Amino acid sequence: MSVARSGRFAGARAPAFVALNSSLALDWRLWREDIEASIAHARALEGAGVLTAAERQAIEDGLATVGREVESGAFVPGDEDEDVHMAVERRLTELVGDAGAKLHTGRSRNDQVVTDVRLHLRRVIDRQVAGLRALQQVLVGRAGEHVETILPAYTHLQRAQVTSLAQHLLAYFWMLERDVERFGRARAACLELPLGAGAAVGVNYPVDREAVAAELGFARISENSLEAVAGRDFVVDYLSAAAELGVHLSRLGAEVVLWASAEFGFVRLPDAFSGGSSIMPQKKNPDAGELLRAAAPRLAADLAGLLGVLHGLPLAYNTDLREDKRFLFDGVDCLDASVPVATGLLEGIEFDTGRMAAACDSFLQATDLADYLVARGVPFREAHHLVGELVRRCLERGIGLDALPLEEVRRLSPAFDEDYVAALDPRASLARKALAGGSAPERVREQLGRAAAALGAAP
Ligand code: ARG
Repeated sequence: MSVARSGRFAGARAPAFVALNSSLALDWRLWREDIEASIAHARALEGAGVLTAAERQAIEDGLATVGREVESGAFVPGDEDEDVHMAVERRLTELVGDAGAKLHTGRSRNDQVVTDVRLHLRRVIDRQVAGLRALQQVLVGRAGEHVETILPAYTHLQRAQVTSLAQHLLAYFWMLERDVERFGRARAACLELPLGAGAAVGVNYPVDREAVAAELGFARISENSLEAVAGRDFVVDYLSAAAELGVHLSRLGAEVVLWASAEFGFVRLPDAFSGGSSIMPQKKNPDAGELLRAAAPRLAADLAGLLGVLHGLPLAYNTDLREDKRFLFDGVDCLDASVPVATGLLEGIEFDTGRMAAACDSFLQATDLADYLVARGVPFREAHHLVGELVRRCLERGIGLDALPLEEVRRLSPAFDEDYVAALDPRASLARKALAGGSAPERVREQLGRAAAALGAAP
């Protein structure tokens, strides 16, 4: 007796349809959760008087055996199994007979699959948040080494003003901090139990849904059976958090690529996270950074793909929903592969602090020079114009702002005194960025403290 076909059918399925209709490639990874949720369901069926204690025990033992067989490779699903649910149930029934054939009472694959996915995704998020915490830890560690390391901050990818490498690295820390928060919200959204919704409208047995929820670690039961089987908001929440994280990883990856170029030369890549060329023996390529960059469109596409599956679907369950797992698990796999690479890359990367300091030319302090004039009573807009004039003269002569003759500078504005050159010191400039959130070493040390505290409070 096949679990896939009822007596409704006289004919067999066409091979082409079997191939298209099988979702095993998408959902087999849910086998563990399918077994757990099935055990909870069997207990609820016993509570509802549908199963005897002996039948429930046979099911539990049988499901435990199926789990061991899957783990050892002794059981692999076959073509006759449409999906993970049918594969597990078929094997269970082979092992324990009639009791197994009673397990699907008061349950549909429609409420089963979304229960499994919610259970599974909760674990995925826990694992991935731990991975993000490890990446944040590395960022804090590397930032701690470079509170005094100066480099240009860029706007429009043009040198702008001096900042520190710590400030730069911590920018990514805070992006990831919000990613962790978003994953936390996505996890909370997983904690609603759909089981009991049946195919769409609820079931005919008095199963104790609250007890099932408690047993499986759900915080609450779904309010509405139609929504329970049709809704995938929690997957959208996860993939949207993933897509945002992807954008952050891509910006990090892209900067590594840029900084590893000979033109920038701000970093040397660890061999362990670099590629070579099949023809050019000298090449060391920033493949890891490039692939972090490429994670963003992939994750954005996963989110867009899921929203595409969901939009316009009439209530309640539709087979289209099967495709949720294609996008969900692609996103999961992408992050599982990418985040540890970002962590290893940053752990092993060497910063060329000499190149970074050398890039801090005197023009980065042009704003500080304008502020020097402001301190001497010159209105900022006028000071901005005057310093711009100095910059232009320096560029014409190929010299820095500190190399103009004092008389010439004073002719332009008597507000300049001989001490103006001190305003051009990049480290002094850094120290002046002393308001909260600024690049000054003392502020960044405080920021590091808050970042470390956030990690200490990690879930
Ligand atoms: N394999 C399906 C999925 O992944 C679950 C089965 C839904 N029910 C059905 N009658 N096709 O969503």
